[in-house]
Amino acid sequence: MLPEIRTPIPGPRSRELASSLSKYENRNVTYFAADFPIFWDRASGINVWDVDGNRFVDFTAGFAVAAHGHTHQAIQDAIANQSARLMHAMGDVHPAENKLRLCQRLSEITFERWGLGVGKTTLCNSGFEAVEVALKTSLLHSGKAGVIYFSGGYHGLGYGALEVIGIPWFREPFLLQLRDFATAIPYPNCFRCPFGRTEGYRLEGSRFPNCASSCLAAIEDQIAQTIRTRPIGCILVEPCQGRGGEVVPPIDFHRMLRQICDTYKILLVWDEIYTGFNRTGTLFACDQFGVYPDIICLGKGLTAGFPLAACVGRAEIMDAWPLSAGEALHTTTFLGNPMGCAAALASIDLHLEKALGTRVQTLGRQFRDRLKELALPAIGHVRGLGLLVGAEIIRPDGSPDPAKALQIVLCALKDGLLFLTGGTNGNVLSFTPPFCIETEEIDYACKKIYQYLRLGSVS
Ligand SMILES: Cc1ncc(COP(=O)(O)O)c(C=O)c1O
Repeated sequence: MLPEIRTPIPGPRSRELASSLSKYENRNVTYFAADFPIFWDRASGINVWDVDGNRFVDFTAGFAVAAHGHTHQAIQDAIANQSARLMHAMGDVHPAENKLRLCQRLSEITFERWGLGVGKTTLCNSGFEAVEVALKTSLLHSGKAGVIYFSGGYHGLGYGALEVIGIPWFREPFLLQLRDFATAIPYPNCFRCPFGRTEGYRLEGSRFPNCASSCLAAIEDQIAQTIRTRPIGCILVEPCQGRGGEVVPPIDFHRMLRQICDTYKILLVWDEIYTGFNRTGTLFACDQFGVYPDIICLGKGLTAGFPLAACVGRAEIMDAWPLSAGEALHTTTFLGNPMGCAAALASIDLHLEKALGTRVQTLGRQFRDRLKELALPAIGHVRGLGLLVGAEIIRPDGSPDPAKALQIVLCALKDGLLFLTGGTNGNVLSFTPPFCIETEEIDYACKKIYQYLRLGSVS
């Protein structure tokens, strides 16, 4: 359903709640401004209603979580049934049965499906924890502390994850409590080439740049040099950068990383927390890159609405962890929460429906085409894969324009459209809607963007 706005945005109740929350919550958490935020009350499918009764269309899926649409009936039922029976178990001591079913299912849909044997899982409460389990696994497996990661990458904000985050301002305030075990390498970005080439971005999606992907040789060199100078246990990479601005690398990038990992006997860790579970139009992004990792980190669309994530690795790698002798080396109070496992099992069943990937690919292509057809000079580059769609907002000289991107988000909010900005410069309009979005809603959003940029509500 298209938006229905009944009050000024934010409405009076949202304003009242914002004023109270700002008194009691750490002031660094929620962003408060005269025109921000709205408080969510309920949601269904593609729509969110705020506490003032306004209906919005959600182009974020709540940070790419609500893949099947908000409050999907099957996931609701799974959580409700499980909560009536058993809400909480003792994850690493006396688990619930559905923890076994989920770990088995994750193995079946990843490493077993790829013909790479059994996958073993550590369940986590949050994406960054899954990344940190991967980092710990890398050390236990190789005895090497070093990690190669990529500029612009986002892996969450725990202290382990901060070591490997490619957006430095998240890390800088905490440097005194961090150790330096990781090395950043440029991520190929055809629109803002880290090696100064300009040919790549002209082609659709930048998957086939016409600069002969010269960045790849430079990246390979930098990685090889790093491996020669410090002990490296793994390369950690996002298949496409999500929070980094929907950056899709040239098609050979991941094949090259796989080759390097095989040559130097280091682990390849894919962070598919954002891209996994059909977000890019295949169950996992690696299914379309034709490259398989040794460890995969999953979250967000895994449950499509319950805080649960997973680090899944090939059994022989995960078996670097010692057999538990009664104290797990990595666990949490809520590990393998039964409601989370039930939500994940229900969500995975929905993800395995045959037509879903094709639907995501078709809608994503439509969305990118519509954005390009607007032919707006302020939109410098439209890119993405599936329903991971980014539009770079630029100044006339081509430099990033985060202020304009934010203005668009604020105008859209007033019109009942939930947008987000992303990218390392904050100038990318970042769209990750639920998969039940329809062409009508996509067209509506594009028309609004046209109005803001062409007819002057955003200058
Ligand atoms: C690729 C990627 N990895 C890890 C994370 C961190 O996940 P969480 O916020 O659940 O800790 C995110 C979150 O956006 C992400 O996009």
